[in-house]
Amino acid sequence: MSSPYFTPREIVGELDRYIVGQQKAKRAVAVALRNRYRRQRVEGDLRDEISPKNIIMEGPTGVGKTEIARRLAKLAKAPFVKVEASKFTEVGYVGRDVESIIRDLVDTAINLVRDEEIEAVKHRAEEQAEERLARILVERDLPEPEPTPEPERPVQGPAAIFGPFLMNQGATESKRPRASQSQIVEMRDRIRRGEMDEELVELEVKDSSNPFMTIFGAHGMEEMEFNLRDMLGNLPGGKGRTKKRRVKVPEALEILAAQEAERLVDQDRVQREALKRAQESGIVFLDEIDKIGGREGFQGADVSREGVQRDLLPIIEGSTVNTKYGPVKTDHILFIAAGAFHVSKLSDLIPELQGRFPIRVTLDSLEAEDFKLILTEPRNALTKQYVALMATEGIDLKFTEDGVEAIARYAAEANRQAENIGARRLHTILEALLEELSFTAPERTEREFIVDAAYVEKTIEPIVSSAELSKFIL
Ligand SMILES: Nc1ncnc2c1ncn2[C@@H]1O[C@H](COP(=O)(O)OP(=O)(O)OP(=O)(O)O)[C@@H](O)[C@H]1O
Ligand SMILES: [Mg+2]
Repeated sequence: MSSPYFTPREIVGELDRYIVGQQKAKRAVAVALRNRYRRQRVEGDLRDEISPKNIIMEGPTGVGKTEIARRLAKLAKAPFVKVEASKFTEVGYVGRDVESIIRDLVDTAINLVRDEEIEAVKHRAEEQAEERLARILVERDLPEPEPTPEPERPVQGPAAIFGPFLMNQGATESKRPRASQSQIVEMRDRIRRGEMDEELVELEVKDSSNPFMTIFGAHGMEEMEFNLRDMLGNLPGGKGRTKKRRVKVPEALEILAAQEAERLVDQDRVQREALKRAQESGIVFLDEIDKIGGREGFQGADVSREGVQRDLLPIIEGSTVNTKYGPVKTDHILFIAAGAFHVSKLSDLIPELQGRFPIRVTLDSLEAEDFKLILTEPRNALTKQYVALMATEGIDLKFTEDGVEAIARYAAEANRQAENIGARRLHTILEALLEELSFTAPERTEREFIVDAAYVEKTIEPIVSSAELSKFIL
């Protein structure tokens, strides 16, 4: 399963490891992902005609919509961004404009491709870093040359401004003795044997603390931000600013290897490939799409929300967005939208937007049976998390089967009585259940702690049957 070209069945299988049920949604995203791969293998003009079938996931809160998208992204190894539709505002208003989604996607693609390229040159970069470090260490200990006395001469040129200091320094620099190849090899072997691990060396490193950036990092200033960023990059003290750091040899190796890798990676190629990746296999997850629902004239819906929907149209339909790396065509980007739609309905979205999401899947609300599985089955299941946390305190936490069943039952019950918050209810119940243990764990003498049905009932029943239940809603 190492290839990113999973079959739909394999994709569903992978998602099954983390998400219980919701088979319709899993199948839909699996097919969409596979279709990307299919399209890329279609020959000729037809390929450009095939557009992705965007998906909209509808379902109550806390049933796995975001989780499915998150897991899919990991699987796909494709540029992926998750954005909340409610964060955007119509062009002309203060706030994030929708085109920033595509710019974010390209940034993600750049990182993805750059990481791949760095991985590919890693070995060479490490070798070069060793060599550079060996040279630094050898030359550091070579004797200084005798300073050659500067002949007296009239001061002019740069020296008139910067003083004779600069000139002198240049002169000695060039006469510094250089390490021989055999000295370098010898030092390299000592580094490899770990003999130099405690040595400190001084390195020039990039100064990443840049006071200018933070000022312009605010939302809604993206256009300006990227122009300014480019400008600042060209100013002295912009991009190439460095500072000196004293570090131990192992860390120095890492820093130098990163510097070498950066030099070995062809930035232009990274950009070209990243733009292509974003265009051909980018996935945008538009969460909270229901929050921009509401048409003009509809109760309480403001113009700005409909405006956001209208702004989204061209991007989803296919248009060109300018980014600092170049223009990106959005025609083949896959959009997956999700929303709880409990206040507004899917039909409250403007028809044009609805029409751009031909595939609709409804996620099921979760019942006691699902909760039981969610508590125990996924790789990251909550009970496993608590067991691991308690193990760090030397406590052997155990959930019996009837204990898990009781938790599941109370979760379903609480969802019925109070608000239905789906699987998030499990978090609140488990917190309440294990509050005492979490607090006293370091002081306990008894190693074992068993959560069985009796314990669950004793702890949770008083809460559920009292008016206090509301305290345990998120
Ligand atoms: N079917 C499921 N299987 C396993 N875990 C789940 C499932 N549904 C939800 N969860 C867990 O519940 C939590 C909330 O799920 P998620 O974020 O996917 O909700 P959502 O459907 O996106 O809700 P919202 O509409 O509020 O955004 C996560 O921790 C997730 O792991
Ligand atoms: Mg969500």
